[in-house]
Amino acid sequence: MTNAIFESVSAPRPDHLQLASPATAADTGVSPAVTGFYDEATGSIQYVVADPVTRKSAIIDPVLDFDPRSGSTRTTSADRLLKHIETQGLTLEWILDTHPHADHFSAAGYLKDMTGASTGIGERVVEIQRLWKAIYNLPDSVSVDGSQWDRLFADGERFTVGEMEVSVLLSPGHTLSSVTYLMGNAAFVHDTLLMPDSGTARADFPGGDARQLWRTIQRILQLPSGTRLFSGHDYRPNGRNASWESTVAAQRAHNLHLKNCDESKFVKLRMERDRSLPMPALMLSALQVNLAGGRLPPPESDGRRYLKIPLNAFSYASWVA
Ligand SMILES: [Fe+2]
Repeated sequence: MTNAIFESVSAPRPDHLQLASPATAADTGVSPAVTGFYDEATGSIQYVVADPVTRKSAIIDPVLDFDPRSGSTRTTSADRLLKHIETQGLTLEWILDTHPHADHFSAAGYLKDMTGASTGIGERVVEIQRLWKAIYNLPDSVSVDGSQWDRLFADGERFTVGEMEVSVLLSPGHTLSSVTYLMGNAAFVHDTLLMPDSGTARADFPGGDARQLWRTIQRILQLPSGTRLFSGHDYRPNGRNASWESTVAAQRAHNLHLKNCDESKFVKLRMERDRSLPMPALMLSALQVNLAGGRLPPPESDGRRYLKIPLNAFSYASWVA
């Protein structure tokens, strides 16, 4: 399955996995404290999630602020997360990304340096690293083994935040390495299900796949109906306030892209919609940072860091109608 923007890139494809029913960590009865922080510039939601018993916590999908016009970075958004952790008396154990983001820089590297907490992402990130290493023509010295993170999570793997068990669900479709973190009755579903009035995430990036996204969504919707779902983006349709929390029941009943759909209808709808979407403005900047674990490229001889933009690597240009 190819698409307009990325058809010139030869990418690994998901194997159209038939994903098993999710493990039911949601049966534990734990209801973690979840605080979402909305990033107006990119429509991203960053989360701090805490075990209510031990007050141990995790950050999910933190943003490193980047202004593409000036090339400036700052840590205002990430510092806000740290301030929240401090004022709430939490202890940070994990810094997690659900996938390598195409629309914002991850602050995982900065937060790791500030706190020493462990970083983690889905294990298939190495396939995306290999793909983009070639696109960026990065030197051999750049590792594509996932060593930029402390943990690479496989499907079904479990770990803990305090005493709260976390289950990892492989959730490919938007990207081939996307994962969902399931903690008690909360699931962090990133760019799979957006809010019901917004539908679902695009599936046309290299390694993305609409059919696989449908199967991932069906897997998520097998979770108990009261499971709280936390989305990774919200673009405030019709100017409504930003929102990011739904439930499995609400998504089953109301999701714009799933209503009256079966797999083939969804694939057709998703692919048609993706053909109309422009390439994300920060994609070529963001991926080289995010595939390095949220770290900027090393400084050059003048002490300054530089991003690299491959020219004419993609068939799409914004002036193409
Ligand atoms: Fe994404």
